[in-house]
Amino acid sequence: MTDTILEASGVIMRFGGLTAVRDVNLTVNSGEIVGLIGPNGAGKTTFFNCLTGLYVPTEGTVKYKGTVLPPKPHLVTKAGIARTFQNIRLFANMTVLENVLVGRHTRTKEGLLSAIIRGPGYHRAEAASRARAMELLEFTGLASKAEHLARNLPYGEQRKLEIARALASDPGLLLLDEPTAGMNPQETRATEELVFAIRDQGIAVLVIEHDMRFIFNLCDRVAVLVQGEKLVEGTSEVVQSDERVIAAYIGTPFEGAPGDEELAEVEAAEASAEASTAADAVTSTSSKEDDR
Ligand SMILES: Nc1ncnc2c1ncn2[C@@H]1O[C@H](COP(=O)(O)OP(=O)(O)O)[C@@H](O)[C@H]1O
Ligand SMILES: [Mg+2]
Repeated sequence: MTDTILEASGVIMRFGGLTAVRDVNLTVNSGEIVGLIGPNGAGKTTFFNCLTGLYVPTEGTVKYKGTVLPPKPHLVTKAGIARTFQNIRLFANMTVLENVLVGRHTRTKEGLLSAIIRGPGYHRAEAASRARAMELLEFTGLASKAEHLARNLPYGEQRKLEIARALASDPGLLLLDEPTAGMNPQETRATEELVFAIRDQGIAVLVIEHDMRFIFNLCDRVAVLVQGEKLVEGTSEVVQSDERVIAAYIGTPFEGAPGDEELAEVEAAEASAEASTAADAVTSTSSKEDDR
C-alpha cells in the first residue's frame, strides 16, 4: 500500500502578468524519489517555493499527510518538509556542526537564538541535538569537518552540508533544488548514493536537477515542467523516451549510454564552468524569503 504524503492540487503562481506555475498537480508517495525537470525558467523553483510556504500560491492547495500546509516556511518545516536551496544558504561564519544545529532548532525547545548564542541552557539541553547533528555529519560524510567554518568548505561539501542541515529537522519529505549543481562527477555519484540512503531511511524525496543521468538513475517517477505546465509525468523510462520531452527539453534522444570516459570529460567541463560561478554564490545566508 502506498501513502500519498505530498499532494499539490491545481497550483498556480502568478507574478503580475507572468504565470510561473500553471495548474500543476503533483503527488509524492512515501518511499518515493520523484524528479522534477524542465528548462531554466520553467517554474521548478517557484513550485518548490509554493510547497514550502515561501510563496502563497495564487490558486491551489498543498497538503502534507492529508493536511493543508500553513503558508509559513517554519511551519512547513515543522510539519515535516525540509528543503535545500538552488543558491546555497548556509551560515558562512558558523561551523559545519553549528549549521546543522540550526537546522535542528524546529525540533528542540531551546530554539534558534539559543543555538546561536550558546548560553548555559544550550549546553545541557542541546547535548542530544549535538549527538544527532554529529550522526548526520557522519551520514553525509562531513564528520571530520565538523569544526570547520562553513565558508571554508569546498562547494560540493557545502551542498552536502545543506542536506545535513535539512535532515536535522527530521523531515518526512526532503525537497532538493539542484543538489549536484557545481559538483564534479565523483561528488554527483556520491550524492546519488546519499539520496538513496535518505530514501532508505524512510524519507521521501522530491528533487529538481538538470543532470539527466542523475535524475533517471535515481527517480521512481519524473515530472516535466515546461513554461509552468506539467507536460509529462511517468517513470524514467517513459519520460526519457517521450517525444515531447525530447523536443521541449532534452534536444537529443537518449540512445544508449555514452562511455564513462566521455561522460567524465563532459561533466568535468561542465563542473569547472559552474565552479567559476559557484565561487560568487557561496554561503551568504540571510533571512530573505524570496529565494529563487
Ligand atoms: N519572485 C518572483 N517575481 C517575479 N517573477 C518570478 C519570481 N520568481 C520567479 N519568477 C519568474 O518565474 C519564472 C520561473 O522561474 P523559476 O521558478 O526560478 O524557474 P526554474 O527554477 O525552473 O529555472 C521565471 O520567468 C522567473 O523569472
Ligand atoms: Mg530553479
